[in-house]
Amino acid sequence: MAGAHSLSLSFFFSSLVLSLSAGSVFSATFTLVNRCTYTVWPGILSNAGTPQLSTTGFALNPGDSFPISAPTSWSGRMWGRTLCSQDSTTGKFTCVTGDCGSGALECGGGGAAPPATLAEFTLNGANGLDFYDVSLVDGYNLPMLVVPQGGTGGNCSNTGCVVDLNASCPSELQVLNAVSTSGGGGVGGGPCVACKSACEAFGDPKYCCSGEYATPDICKPSAYSEFFKNACPRAYSYAYDDGTSTFTCESADYVVIFCPTPSAR
Ligand SMILES: *[C@@H]1O[C@H](CO)[C@@H](O)[C@H](O)[C@H]1NC(C)=O
Ligand SMILES: *[C@@H]1O[C@H](CO)[C@@H](O)[C@H](O)[C@H]1NC(C)=O
Repeated sequence: MAGAHSLSLSFFFSSLVLSLSAGSVFSATFTLVNRCTYTVWPGILSNAGTPQLSTTGFALNPGDSFPISAPTSWSGRMWGRTLCSQDSTTGKFTCVTGDCGSGALECGGGGAAPPATLAEFTLNGANGLDFYDVSLVDGYNLPMLVVPQGGTGGNCSNTGCVVDLNASCPSELQVLNAVSTSGGGGVGGGPCVACKSACEAFGDPKYCCSGEYATPDICKPSAYSEFFKNACPRAYSYAYDDGTSTFTCESADYVVIFCPTPSAR
C-alpha cells in the first residue's frame, strides 16, 4: 500500500513537472461538495475546443467532497445527477435526473438531460476574467451554489440556487418520479424530483427565445421564468438574463456545493 502510494505520488509530481514544462499550467481547482442527504453523481462537460478534465462523472456520497484541477482557459459545465442506478442485467447506468446518456458512471462527453441545474464556467476569458453562472434555463433538479475562493476583481461573489424548487414547482412543469409497482413500469405519481423550464415543457419560441424571439429586446421574462427568478435571484431564469446572473473573478478556485443549505435537501 505504502509503496503504491509513493509510486503514485512520484507519478503525480513527474506528470505535474511534465505538464508545467509543456505550458499547460493548472489554472483553477474545482471542489465539488455534496451536502445533500442523498448521493449525487456529478457530471462534467467540457465545451468544444477545451480539454476534458480528469473525470467526467463519478459518485459523491453525502458529506463528501472531491477536488478537480482544470487547465488555463477551461470552459464547461457541471451538474448533479440524482436517483441513479445500474441495471442488474444490462449493467447500464442511468439517472432519473441529469442523465448524460453514456450508460456509465463517466459521462464521456455527454451533457445533462434537462431539467438540470447547471454551473457554467469560462476560465480566463475576456480581460483575463473567469465568467461563471448557475443556470436554470434548462430547468432545475437540485440546489447548487458556486463559491469562489481567493479570487480578486470583478463581481466575485457566490451565486446559485439554494432553495428546493421541487416542492414549489408549478404542476405543469413538474417531473414526477415513477412509483415502482410490482407489475413494473409505473409512470409518474411519485414525488416531484425536478422542475422543467417553460421552454422544455411547452416548446414555445417565446419561452425558448428562439426563432423570431431570438433577441434580448424581444424575448422577455415570462411568469414561468419569474417563478425561477423570484426563488433564485442570482441564477439564470431564461436565455437573456445575463445582467443579473453572470459573475466574474480573477484567479479564483471554485467550490461547487450541492444542497448548500440544510433547509434545501
Ligand atoms: C427534490 O428531488 C430530489 C431528487 O432529485 C429529492 O431527493 C428531494 O426529496 C426532492 N424534494 C422534494 C421537496 O420533493
Ligand atoms: C458582473 O460583471 C459582469 C462583467 O462586468 C457583468 O456583465 C455582470 O452584469 C455583473 N453581474 C452582476 C450580477 O452584477
